[in-house]
Amino acid sequence: MKKDFLSIADLTKEEVFELLSLADSLKTQKELKPLAGKTVATIFQKPSLRTRVSFEVGIIQLGGHAIFLTDDGVGLGTRESALDVAHVLSRFNDGIVARVFDHQLLLDLAKHATVPVINALSDLSHPCQILADIYTIRQHKKLRDHVKIAYVGDGNNILNSWLELSSIIPLHLTLAIPHGYEPDKTLFDKAQSAKVSKIEIIRDPKNAVNKADVVYTDTWTSMGQEKERTKRIYDFWEYQVNTSLIRHAKEDVLVMHCLPAHRGEEITNEALDGKNSVVNDQAENRLHVQKAIMAKLIGKYDARSINSKDDSQFQII
Ligand code: CP
Ligand code: NVA
Repeated sequence: MKKDFLSIADLTKEEVFELLSLADSLKTQKELKPLAGKTVATIFQKPSLRTRVSFEVGIIQLGGHAIFLTDDGVGLGTRESALDVAHVLSRFNDGIVARVFDHQLLLDLAKHATVPVINALSDLSHPCQILADIYTIRQHKKLRDHVKIAYVGDGNNILNSWLELSSIIPLHLTLAIPHGYEPDKTLFDKAQSAKVSKIEIIRDPKNAVNKADVVYTDTWTSMGQEKERTKRIYDFWEYQVNTSLIRHAKEDVLVMHCLPAHRGEEITNEALDGKNSVVNDQAENRLHVQKAIMAKLIGKYDARSINSKDDSQFQII
């Protein structure tokens, strides 16, 4: 049966670590071509740099062919229903990658497509980003039980996906979020009741980042919220990630941001370009992790073989 990747909740803990190991393998073993002869359609309702480029480069590196569709051409949910788009794209392609406003469109695509559908960001979540982020934390040898991640800023799609990951692997999430900008309540409650991670809403950014291993922020104004920008800058002003805030974290803290950054708003140049910043590793890791997701969901890949002790061993079948 086909498997979609619409949210982190689609994965088990074992699958998360399997994907991270597979990403390592695909990063070094460039000769592996699990998408050879396969075509993946990508639909973007919103702008993108990292997601679009990393998916297209990843598909090509895995031996497949990428078709880029803008929503101007497709009219997903307007010119044509998600049902019809899913049916038609499934006849031509081996996978569908979609970036949408309304998460429901992804659910509808996945329901009706006969090929795997991958979430390339919705208003609700950004699971590919968070998998790349945990891969980055692991790359910098900080991944351990209850690693302390201080999230400072807006309770948006990025934080929602962190919450979903926290239901699967043990994290210590401290959230510095202004009143009225909390993450999705259902996902927050689910993460709390999973009791896998420690999750605390600590309004004060200094307290939230105290001795943190990771300080993570994202834009205060997500795509689609541009009209609220002035109000948001006002409401979030105390939540800027800057060098004086970072001093409260561990000395070797990882400063993370999914990008694009609004320099001088949620993060200063000094913080974004400073020695603790790993934002470009995060961006690069989108490629490695998404290659793993596509190899597993769309590719000719035997998932069982990754379970060997040697992470680099897996087979193309
Ligand atoms: N981080 C991220 O998804 O970037 P893009 O919006 O440029 O794809
Ligand atoms: N929260 C941001 C993430 C961009 C990658 C947005 O949705 O615009």
